[in-house]
Amino acid sequence: MLSWLNRPAEIIESLTDDSFEPAHVQPYQGNPNNTLRLLLQARTDFLSVWNERDYTERVTSTRILKRSLVVVNTPEAVRYVVAKRHDNYERKSPQMRRALEYLLGDGLFISDGDTWKQRRALVSDITHKNRVPSFGLVMEQTANELVQRWMSLGNGASVNVLHEMAGLTAEIISRSMFGNDLGRDNADDVTNSFTTYQALIDSINLGYFIGFDEGLPVLRTPSLRRSVKRLHRVIDKVVEDHLAGRGDHNSMVDLLIRRQERNPELKLDVVALRNEAATIFMAGHETTAATLTWAWYLLSKAHWVEKALHEEIERVCGQRAPTMEDVPQLDWCRAIIEETLRLYPPVPILARQAKDADQIAGKEIEPASLVLIVPWLLHRTESLFEQAHHFRPERFLGDKRPTPYSYIPFAAGPRLCPGLQFGLTEAILCLAILAQRFRVRMLEGHKVEPQCRLTLRPKGGLPVTLHRR
Ligand code: HEM
Repeated sequence: MLSWLNRPAEIIESLTDDSFEPAHVQPYQGNPNNTLRLLLQARTDFLSVWNERDYTERVTSTRILKRSLVVVNTPEAVRYVVAKRHDNYERKSPQMRRALEYLLGDGLFISDGDTWKQRRALVSDITHKNRVPSFGLVMEQTANELVQRWMSLGNGASVNVLHEMAGLTAEIISRSMFGNDLGRDNADDVTNSFTTYQALIDSINLGYFIGFDEGLPVLRTPSLRRSVKRLHRVIDKVVEDHLAGRGDHNSMVDLLIRRQERNPELKLDVVALRNEAATIFMAGHETTAATLTWAWYLLSKAHWVEKALHEEIERVCGQRAPTMEDVPQLDWCRAIIEETLRLYPPVPILARQAKDADQIAGKEIEPASLVLIVPWLLHRTESLFEQAHHFRPERFLGDKRPTPYSYIPFAAGPRLCPGLQFGLTEAILCLAILAQRFRVRMLEGHKVEPQCRLTLRPKGGLPVTLHRR
């Protein structure tokens, strides 16, 4: 009966000698008033519910079951929600809170109010841009180790580059967060637990739509319990070691603990420390892995961009491996990453729950209603980005910047991603180090399909072959 739910959305992709429109779902062609159907479809595929008009500058309000849902797609209205009325829209959606509470507790990503304010200062301090260079060495070493491993696979080897990038960024954040002595088995436990957890949770909290303002708790199945237990075990051990003075002194966990020792009023116990450590780990590795994966896809098709990238790396670094100090000179690398983040924002939906009644661009907002900012739509709005569906990194070269609040891969306002500098630097550096040594090519005949779970990834990963340069 519900076979239409599983019908795959049509994918648009086109390539010529000098222009590339990378894979995106065709806008929804059905009846946009059939909101129940759209809600069910969104459970498995949040990208194919948007129709042609949703990709334009407007603010729309829809009623689904008992709820009003407002989609905000103009820079001015985005600014209003995330910055001007942050107080009214700081709260994450019940779906997001419920999906992650088992894993992250009151961790920064899903907290609000006083807890958020207090922890935000703490986490921002740890990931502050001035600290990023001190993690640069970890980034360089880990990426260079991957170069060695890829070399050992032989020319033309097949890999799934999503898994490769997930391993790379998990290793980087894990070494930065927990120090170098986490150990291979524990690192694998952490990464696998996150992957399992993501796969097991739902994209929509139906409880919210049938009337529970806070949504309904996620069903804690045995496999979900197992993955959370495994993860908490590893992180708790690291935190306890650090508390006992046995940990790596340059890690983020150590910074968290030292901060607690200086400011005991923060009252960060083992559970609070674990929640923030798990939050930074989760927020900081999936996103960068998705960014790098999409960048490989784009470069594997747009050869003229890949050529510009290789020329730049040669010009800036010659034959030596790129380092942290080169990052400010790698303009093409940066522009490629920024354009990748525009086309495939790893967090494609920012969902907030209104506290009090309000109006956004003339639309009534009821208390507890949902407000969605969808970078996937905003970044593909033609009036804001010319040839919005095309891969054109040049748009980020030189001093060119998008209209304020039209380009928000790291969100904006007080909840702006505190790992922005870390993530951007990591993506640029890893891309430069790997692209200097390898060309990455899509497997012949493979169809790329963007899929939105907690993050935006290519469905089934990205099977590629690796070619030495
Ligand atoms: C390319 C990489 C990254 C992207 C695109 C990205 C994107 C985002 C976005 C969009 C949000 C806001 C989500 C929302 O408001 O619903 C966010 C929040 C957050 N990110 Fe990132 N992120 C990246 C890397 C990182 C890294 C490397 C770290 C840590 C080292 C990090 C830590 C966090 C934390 C802790 C939050 C929660 C902040 C809060 O709620 O106040 N992120 N990120």
